[in-house]
Amino acid sequence: MTSSQLQPFTATPLSPAVGTEIFELDLCQPLTAKTVAALREIWVNSGLLVFRNNGLTIEDQTRFAAYFGTPSETNTRTDPDRDPRILLISNIRENGKPIGALPDGELQFHSDSAFHEEPLMATLLYSVEIPSTGGDTLFSNATAAYDQLPAPLKEQLKNLTAVNGYDYSTQVKRAGYDRSSGPHAIHPVLRTHPETRRKAIYVNRLMTEEICDLPDADSDSILSDLFDRIEDSDIRYTHVWKTGDLLMWDNRFVQHARTDFPTTERRLLRRVGLLGDKPY
Ligand SMILES: [Fe+2]
Repeated sequence: MTSSQLQPFTATPLSPAVGTEIFELDLCQPLTAKTVAALREIWVNSGLLVFRNNGLTIEDQTRFAAYFGTPSETNTRTDPDRDPRILLISNIRENGKPIGALPDGELQFHSDSAFHEEPLMATLLYSVEIPSTGGDTLFSNATAAYDQLPAPLKEQLKNLTAVNGYDYSTQVKRAGYDRSSGPHAIHPVLRTHPETRRKAIYVNRLMTEEICDLPDADSDSILSDLFDRIEDSDIRYTHVWKTGDLLMWDNRFVQHARTDFPTTERRLLRRVGLLGDKPY
C-alpha cells in the first residue's frame, strides 16, 4: 500500500498487471484538483480504479466521472425521466422488459463501444444490487499483452486495421452479418494511448469481425492468437462485486468481460461513460 502526505488516500495494486484499489477517499464529497490529478496518474498506469463501500447517489457518480472527462449521454433503453448520462446495466424486468442494457449472462472480453468512431475513453460502473454468485467482471491489460508480442508480429500488425461491430449475437461475424444493420468502426489493431504513449492491442473477441485487407484464414488465425493473449490469466484481475463498489477503467488499454450469473437473482449497476477520441 502506498500513501503520501500529498494525497488524501491510500492505494494498493489489485494484481501485477491491472487494477488499483483506493482507500480512505469519500466520493460523496467534491475532490480537489490535486487529488484528481493523483488519481488520474494511477489510473492511466494501472487501467482500473476500485473504490469499495460507497453510498453514491447518481449525482455523486456523475460529479466524480466529470473530473476525468465528459460523460456521454446514452440513447438506448433508458427511461426518459432518468439522467441521460446514466445507463442501467441490469437483468431486472418490468412488464416483461429489461429496465437496462446487457441484461443476461456472460460477456466476452471487449473494450466498450469499440464499434464507434470515437469509442468511450472510460467507463464508471457502480453496483446497486449484486447476485449472490457470478456476474464477476474480468479485466485484462492489453498493453501488457502487446508488450509480450514477438517482435516480428508487432511489425506485421503495426499498420493493420480491423472492423469492430455491434452485433454480439454470433461468434462467426462474417457469416450473415449485415454491416449496414448496426454500428461498426474500423480502428487500428494496435492503438497508442494518448497520455502514456504506450501501445495496446485493440481488437477484442466480442466485437472484432476481421482484420482489413488480409485473407480470411490469416485474419482469423491472427485474431484468435491476439484474443488468447489478451485473455491470458497472468495479465488479468477478477472483480467480485459487492454493493457500493465504484469501478473506473480505461478502455484505451484495458479490456473486460463478465461471467455468467443466475437468472433468478437481481443484478443492477449504473454506468457512466466518458467520451473518447478516435483511436490511432
Ligand atoms: Fe462492457
